[in-house]
Amino acid sequence: VIAFGGGVIGDLAGFVASIYKRGIPYIQVPTTLLAQVDSSIGGKTAVDLAEAKNMVGAFYQPRLVLSDIGLLATLDLRQARAGLAEVIKYGLIKDKKLFHYLEKNYDKIIRRQQGALEFVVWRSSYIKARIVGQDEKEEKGLRTILNFGHTLGHALEAAGGYRRYNHGEAVAIGILLACALSRRLLLLDSSSCIRVEDLIKAVGLPVRIKNIPLNKIISAHYRDKKFIGARNRFVLLGGIGRAVVKQNIPLAAIKAVLKERI
Ligand SMILES: NC(=O)c1ccc[n+]([C@@H]2O[C@H](COP(=O)([O-])OP(=O)(O)OC[C@H]3O[C@@H](n4cnc5c(N)ncnc54)[C@H](O)[C@@H]3O)[C@@H](O)[C@H]2O)c1
Ligand SMILES: [Zn+2]
Repeated sequence: VIAFGGGVIGDLAGFVASIYKRGIPYIQVPTTLLAQVDSSIGGKTAVDLAEAKNMVGAFYQPRLVLSDIGLLATLDLRQARAGLAEVIKYGLIKDKKLFHYLEKNYDKIIRRQQGALEFVVWRSSYIKARIVGQDEKEEKGLRTILNFGHTLGHALEAAGGYRRYNHGEAVAIGILLACALSRRLLLLDSSSCIRVEDLIKAVGLPVRIKNIPLNKIISAHYRDKKFIGARNRFVLLGGIGRAVVKQNIPLAAIKAVLKERI
């Protein structure tokens, strides 16, 4: 199986390859920025159910991931921005220098400048592959940090019926919510929060939640796979480039940061 397309095709084709005859080899040829920097790497394959994202899936590694940045020239602007959300995520969880690079050069990515694309696709792939290499099936808690911005991001995607926001847009808002939670728990200073919001705004990604009621987001977030029993688990920031995983974040804090964005 050759998965030639964006993250949706990659996740679907990888999942089909994982179950057909109990598994046949497959190759990822990602064609969106989001798929090149994130979804094609790491072997998570899945399809969504109406109740929540990625509910049916498998860990199944491709034999090869082939990312050709030439394919990104035809992406529409909205898709290019969505991919940048995941690159911003890598900067925030693991690579302060990448975050600084994006602050200075985000417009080059949006204009599809070759050198800038090469750098962010390489750097993001490197960071993701290194983390996944240490914790392939998310058993040691290391891979969890890749989920930064995704707990509430996925809830927003589902609560919006997978139509209101695309994945990258929901993650962008999820990142801001995770920063606000980090700030509330006194892990992150307010100037870092402002820098993150400034970059997300400059890229043209959404920073507010439009027309989705709070209770819908809260009930969607309870279905997150990262829940361990009744305890929630959030990836937060202890600074730009430094992720920290925290459990048992009070519901009141989650509601408060959501309310600030609605
Ligand atoms: N498996 C993982 O680890 C992982 C990680 C992140 C995201 N995802 C999943 O990836 C999905 C999002 O992926 P996506 O953002 O690539 O969206 P997508 O696959 O829906 O593609 C977006 C759009 O771009 C079009 N397109 C693809 N390549 C193009 C090209 N080169 N030129 C012009 N148009 C092109 C597609 O036809 C589609 O309309 C979500 O479902 C998300 O859950 C999975
Ligand atoms: Zn993602």
